[in-house]
Amino acid sequence: MEKIVIKNGNIVTMAGFSHGPQKGEEFGKLGLIEDGAIVISDGVIEEVGPTKDIEIPNGAKVFDVKGRLVTPGLIDPHTHLAHFGSREKEYTWRIEGMPYIEILKNGGGILETVRQNRIASEGEIFNQSLENLSRMISFGVTTVESKSGYGLDWETELKQLKTNKRLEQETNIDVVSTFLGAHAIPTEFKEDPEEFVQKVIEMLPKAKEYATYCDVFCEEGVFTPDQSERILLEAKKLGYKVKLHADEIVATGGAQLAAKLGADSADHLLCVDDEGMNMMAEKEVVAVLLPGTSFNLMSDKYAPAQSMIEKQVPIALATDFNPGSCPTENPQLVMTLACLNLKLTPSQALAAFTINAAHSVGMGEKVGSIEEGKQGDVVVFDCPNVDYIPYRFGINHTHSVFKKGKLIWQ
Ligand code: NIG
Ligand code: FE
Repeated sequence: MEKIVIKNGNIVTMAGFSHGPQKGEEFGKLGLIEDGAIVISDGVIEEVGPTKDIEIPNGAKVFDVKGRLVTPGLIDPHTHLAHFGSREKEYTWRIEGMPYIEILKNGGGILETVRQNRIASEGEIFNQSLENLSRMISFGVTTVESKSGYGLDWETELKQLKTNKRLEQETNIDVVSTFLGAHAIPTEFKEDPEEFVQKVIEMLPKAKEYATYCDVFCEEGVFTPDQSERILLEAKKLGYKVKLHADEIVATGGAQLAAKLGADSADHLLCVDDEGMNMMAEKEVVAVLLPGTSFNLMSDKYAPAQSMIEKQVPIALATDFNPGSCPTENPQLVMTLACLNLKLTPSQALAAFTINAAHSVGMGEKVGSIEEGKQGDVVVFDCPNVDYIPYRFGINHTHSVFKKGKLIWQ
């Protein structure tokens, strides 16, 4: 049996929320153990408590973290990790004033990445994604959700879905794979979006082997709520769990649809209305908020996080890592943006990237907190306390990263 002990850490456990996400007044509850230790046995957390009370098992490998901050491994629950290429050209266009959705309408944006991915080989997509996943790990990420959606034809979607699978096999990171065949209307279906909706529905059974979730970009000018509902209902019949890109640029009723379908999350939500939030609260749909995207799109609009907290909507945070609207793998920077723009406290931002993020991808019983029986996914930060992470921004605070009890980055 392989045993490791991490001792003398200020441990944020986030314990007690395996049954459901933190929300309302509970949101940001750290479960702090000062000068604590964690015993991990064969990848699973066996014991957590004050260092002085923990007996170090014979033969255990001991890591003395000397008073540093120790947290659950970060979970990035909304990314477009599996892709090839980049779009720095559009960055300049956007600075010059061209709106993001306008670029998409002219065949750029998501469609430009689709073009690059259709040409790329599976190996090229994998290699670039692996490099980017390694960067995520260096920032403390131990579980990541990764969407397809830069193929919009079966051959290319498959390259992305296979990449998700290989990333998980070759890195030991949990990769929650999502089929996002309905990410945009490809140019060849511009005149007949309905036909493309049918194509996506036809891809669903084949994609099921590779994906746990099905997602749709429900947005004005992309997929209507009705089209989104039809795709997601088919997906549910096939055993997918569902989530939704909802109410990002215009309020189209995406949040209501997510609640109606029993989605695990609705993501973006900049324009969500009161009814949408109330319905999400009632059905415990996690709001995955992406302030890095508002920031990078130079929008002054951010999701109404404070109303969500008031209405008991659980909140998670994600990077939205993708080559267009948010090209960063750094959750620590996103925590800063969440504090400054959504007015989350640093503790809430950390809860949103750990226990609540775990629930938003259906992994709340396995990861997201440091408690007995959960996976030994742990990050040590070179920080005296939680507030320090978002406060001292733009740098990497990670000291070391453990995945299933193994040191994977230092
Ligand atoms: O979540 N909103 C749609 N999809 C992505 C953008 C992807 C891209 O620009 O390539 C998002 O922001
Ligand atoms: Fe997205």
